Amino acid sequence: MNKIKNLEKLKKVSQDHLIKFYDELNEKEQNELASQLNDLNLDELNNLIPEYVLNQPKVEIPDDLTPAPFFHLDDEEQTEYYKKAILEGEKLISAGKVAALTVAGGQGSRLGFDGPKGTFPITPVENKTLFQYFSESILRINEKYSTSFSWYIMTSPINHNDTVNFFEENNYFNLPKTSVKFFTQGTMPAIGIDGKILLKSKSSLALAPNGHGGTLLALKKSGSLDTMAEDGVEHISYFQVDNPLASIASPLFIGLHALEKSEMSAITLPKTNPYEKLGNFCISKNRLNIIEYSDLPNELAEAVNNDGSLKFLAGSPAIHIISRVFTEQLTAGGSLSLPWHRADKKVEFLNNNGELENPKEINAVKLESFIFDALQLAKKTMILEAKREDEFAPTKNPTGIDSVESCREMLIDRDARWLEENGVCIPRKSDGTVDCIIELSPSKYLTADDVKELVSNENFKAPKKGETVYYG
Ligand code: UTP
Repeated sequence: MNKIKNLEKLKKVSQDHLIKFYDELNEKEQNELASQLNDLNLDELNNLIPEYVLNQPKVEIPDDLTPAPFFHLDDEEQTEYYKKAILEGEKLISAGKVAALTVAGGQGSRLGFDGPKGTFPITPVENKTLFQYFSESILRINEKYSTSFSWYIMTSPINHNDTVNFFEENNYFNLPKTSVKFFTQGTMPAIGIDGKILLKSKSSLALAPNGHGGTLLALKKSGSLDTMAEDGVEHISYFQVDNPLASIASPLFIGLHALEKSEMSAITLPKTNPYEKLGNFCISKNRLNIIEYSDLPNELAEAVNNDGSLKFLAGSPAIHIISRVFTEQLTAGGSLSLPWHRADKKVEFLNNNGELENPKEINAVKLESFIFDALQLAKKTMILEAKREDEFAPTKNPTGIDSVESCREMLIDRDARWLEENGVCIPRKSDGTVDCIIELSPSKYLTADDVKELVSNENFKAPKKGETVYYG
């Protein structure tokens, strides 16, 4: 027991059930459990449990919320400024001042896929995985901007080895191995609804990744911020592993972020209805906030302008540019306190008799922090509107809304539009949906412009109704 440094505290905060089986363990197992227990911040947990687990946390909605202003895509007055921003963005990408960051530490429970979500085969023809899709996009960025883009991938202790092995087995999809940098996020223990931390086995806690808000501190603790500084990276292009449409290196977005001297920027999509499940960009006390769809009061969600459009129109697809220096400032002391969010889950656990239980009902609370809560901490922010069909195809569920199905349809649709923009006739059904299965390889085609060369080739064949075609 002397390996457990916080033994007294465990008893004091009534979590000593965690060592009930300690004496039955061999030395290796004892070390494993002791190390997990020593990593727990028991003081913090002891404060969080009454507030977030034993009670439903109160969500304080500021009473001065106003819609956040954003740069509109089709704003003619901004044409010149946008041109300048695109040049600035291209310059920054070429100069190696931008790195990509994919958050891939989640458990992907809704998808129900056994393995890291990034290893899920997503593309409609070639079945390329999400990781391959991003890798090939970065290959094209490297070629287009004569650069070597760094790609930071956040894993969690639960999927780290599987993720790294996947890249190893696939030869990093031809990316320079040193340009792909993995770092691991922190965890929080799952807590039973009675306030007791759960065991997963006699020698381990039921730990879960601590939310994408864990990214910033994990960047600091892993030394990734130092590496970025050494490499001259100033801006971090942040996107989620389950959105293959996210533009990794958008010159306009990056350029505007830089010209506006923004510390943290965001893409926004116009919401399709008042209750769409997207966070809402709002201003309170001169700071940018994202208010979750479930927390925005109905009268605000439904409020409309004179022209009938929603007042709180700006939804968040979780695409950001984050300044490295801002991240350094936030995490300078080795800690970062973002608000916690409660998620009620079914979590497999070891009961008091030492038997594994797989509950049928919700039995536990997971606590997560969210990256967008860092927006409130930024003195200067910038929001840019994007078209949903160009930027956002989340893969959360196997079927239905935000699913593998809808993501594949959106990939086909986006590629079809790029071909059409280059004069290719794409067969469409009477409802407007594409009537063939096509896929453009991102290693060659990163923008509609890139497709010009493909269609001008004398061997190019337009897809026919019902055909399946890969343009690689
Ligand atoms: P989600 O909140 O959609 O979670 O994550 P998820 O784990 O993918 O799926 P569910 O909710 O269990 O079904 C959005 C993005 O944030 C990453 C995910 O990998 C995904 O890219 N994420 C989430 C992390 O990197 N770490 C976390 O702790 C949580």
